[in-house]
Amino acid sequence: MTAALSSAPGAGHAPAVRTDTPADDPSRAPGVGGPSLMAARPEPADLDPRRALRELARWRGAGQDAASFPYRAVLGHYRTVGKNAVGDELLTALRAIRPQGGAGPARLLADWLPQVVDGRHGDYAGYAGIPVYTSLAENGASTDHVITALLADIVETETATLAGAPAGRPRARAALRALIAAAGLAARYGTTSTPRAPDEDAALVRAGAEAARAARERVTADVLRAVELTLTPTTRSHDEQMFIRLIQIFEAVFAAVARAVAAATEAVGTGRIDLAQKLLDEATRHVTGTSGVFRVLTTMPKDAFAVIRANTDGRSAVQSRTYRAVERSCPTLHLALVRSGLPEAELAPAMAELDAAWGAMKRTHWGITMKVIGTVRGTGGTDGASYLREAAEVRLFPALG
Ligand code: HEM
Repeated sequence: MTAALSSAPGAGHAPAVRTDTPADDPSRAPGVGGPSLMAARPEPADLDPRRALRELARWRGAGQDAASFPYRAVLGHYRTVGKNAVGDELLTALRAIRPQGGAGPARLLADWLPQVVDGRHGDYAGYAGIPVYTSLAENGASTDHVITALLADIVETETATLAGAPAGRPRARAALRALIAAAGLAARYGTTSTPRAPDEDAALVRAGAEAARAARERVTADVLRAVELTLTPTTRSHDEQMFIRLIQIFEAVFAAVARAVAAATEAVGTGRIDLAQKLLDEATRHVTGTSGVFRVLTTMPKDAFAVIRANTDGRSAVQSRTYRAVERSCPTLHLALVRSGLPEAELAPAMAELDAAWGAMKRTHWGITMKVIGTVRGTGGTDGASYLREAAEVRLFPALG
């Protein structure tokens, strides 16, 4: 069945890429391989940009206090029609906002706006709402909290569509397992796997709701708010929501590793090899933790990803600054260690472990890429799988014996 992305009423035009899969067809059942819940069962006021436009005009008239920005109305429309189908009128109104920056709600608005004003040709940072997470980390938010809140969101999104699309069961299970591990809820469940009777959707939905609630209780309000605001898929595909959340989880990991390596380099400079070791061990823990997250990614249907890919050209993770920062800063750490005259053998095992975990992560990503898109080119303009195969060989500490 042909599932063309038609324009929303009042959207002005239909710029989203047409596809031939049900993934963005709102008349299909929501869930894995189909449309999102908001696209399939929209609130009428969200289909139309006029409510967002009205609320924006009122907000401007009332003094543009960032704390009362109408996020809900704007996001309601974006999520219902998909970012690539948002019309020029709303885009122009959003682009006219001149955020002040600073701190608190003003900072949040300044960080958030790029992801809704970048239109169809934005970059990776705008796709994943990176500035919001960067500020969060600068303000001291815990990486574990960010990952936990993002996984809780995936669990809720996946279990919400389970009844209509049992194909979503493996993903809901994988997400629940990853959440239990990340949130440290294994003690409550007695195991890191899903609770009993996982074949029953109802049990999975109950367990998911309970774990997501327990996980959220462990997370600070600013993290929950960031997660709430940073989902702006380009299409109406259910699977794109999971894809964006996973990117945000990996970005949190890359950023944590980059910070740890920079701090370890400083620690080495002051003779604190014990501290450097602790920092690298923590970084390795974060990278190793991505294996459960990859299991969620393996549930990406090929057809759904084709829709996402067609709508996200130029928004590749090859642009990830945090990922590059990790790959760039590790040789610098090694050099600092050699120059410090400290015994290299003391830090070498921690470095080798981080290197091995990072390499395993890259190989897993390459394997999934092969399964989902084969050997076609990437959205970042590389050769795709062959580029990734070569990149997976690059070690973090090539000079390590
Ligand atoms: C089905 C899912 C995915 C597919 C098919 C895929 C595919 C690709 C491809 C083809 C590239 C090569 C660069 C390009 O031309 O775009 C790439 C790079 C990359 N991807 Fe993915 N990707 C997927 C999911 C993810 C996720 C969830 C993340 C998390 C952030 C991610 C992170 C990266 C990074 C960091 C690079 C750069 C690698 C390097 O330069 O060494 N990918 N991906």
